[in-house]
Amino acid sequence: MSAVICGTGSYAPGYVMDNDRIAELVETSDTWIRERTGIRQRHIAKAETTTYMAAEAAKKAIEQAGISPEEIELIIMATLSSDIILPCSACEVQKEIGAKNAAAFDINAACSGFVIAYNMADAFFAAGQFKTALIVAAESLSHLTDWTDRNTCILFGDGAGAAVLKNSPGKHFLSVTHSDGEKGWTLTCKNRLGTNAEGEKFSREFYIDMNGQEIFKFAVRKVPELIREVLQKNGVQQEEITWFVMHQANCRILEAVARHIGEPSWKFPMNLQHYGNTSSASIPILLDEINRQGKLKKGDKILLAGFGAGQTWSGNILVWDM
Ligand code: ACO
Repeated sequence: MSAVICGTGSYAPGYVMDNDRIAELVETSDTWIRERTGIRQRHIAKAETTTYMAAEAAKKAIEQAGISPEEIELIIMATLSSDIILPCSACEVQKEIGAKNAAAFDINAACSGFVIAYNMADAFFAAGQFKTALIVAAESLSHLTDWTDRNTCILFGDGAGAAVLKNSPGKHFLSVTHSDGEKGWTLTCKNRLGTNAEGEKFSREFYIDMNGQEIFKFAVRKVPELIREVLQKNGVQQEEITWFVMHQANCRILEAVARHIGEPSWKFPMNLQHYGNTSSASIPILLDEINRQGKLKKGDKILLAGFGAGQTWSGNILVWDM
């Protein structure tokens, strides 16, 4: 038995910000951004909240799965940009979609969040706890972005993606997850303003801060290792994988990973040109897009890989069964 996707959904805010608009805010250009990242535009939340986007994506996934919200037993929401600290976003989504029988909680593993949420649901299934789950990832990264910092504001976008999982017969694949807290400094957001225990006011750096080159090196080194480890752990040959669905950080990272493992880049679907980097939401948004485009065929083996702040990286294999 293993966790099988039986419905996907996604949501992107209506406001689209192209590279020319960013070039009005900081010293950059459409050409520079496209050549270094592949990004042409991103969707930016205005009225939409993280919870709203997550609930919209979830409703589409539930509709495609053909189940009622009451059948969902578990909701895991991946986000690093929840609207509020308490209650957690997963409980807010539970309320919005009427999944009143679900257990719900959030995880924050940055851009690896959706893959780790899938792994957790799969592990709950394998332990005999829960048979139907909703995993959802949503981000409002524009609220954490310093729009005067050209190193970061060109990269990120907002949006949400979701999948309904069912425990179904079939080979159980083992997942791989790693972290390296020593490298946490490469991507931070110390987004807290408050008062410490002595009553002193403190304010820390409020926005996403990134060492782009360190992140680039990390991704290009660790993701090929991750792919090989996932394949080896499951006794799967690389040529059996139909699609490599990766976190959508940067086209140069994805092309370098494809080169490193000797695969053509068309096996690495990309939509970051339209969305920018939506952190945990990027993989489910892409999965929903290629699912609804009819690119995924029953029996396709898909290797998912997330990588990002923490540093964290995680991968698994799923067999498409829709
Ligand atoms: N527009 C124009 N020039 C710029 C910009 C910009 N937006 N940003 C930096 N520059 C300049 C720099 O000041 C520098 O100028 P100098 O040579 O005069 O000093 C020059 O361009 C080169 O800067 P680098 O930082 O060396 O540029 P690099 O080629 O490394 O590209 C980038 C920067 C795109 C951020 C790259 O490092 C990258 O993609 N890193 C990965 C980061 C990432 O994906 N982060 C997402 C979050 S983590 C995750 O999702 C995994």
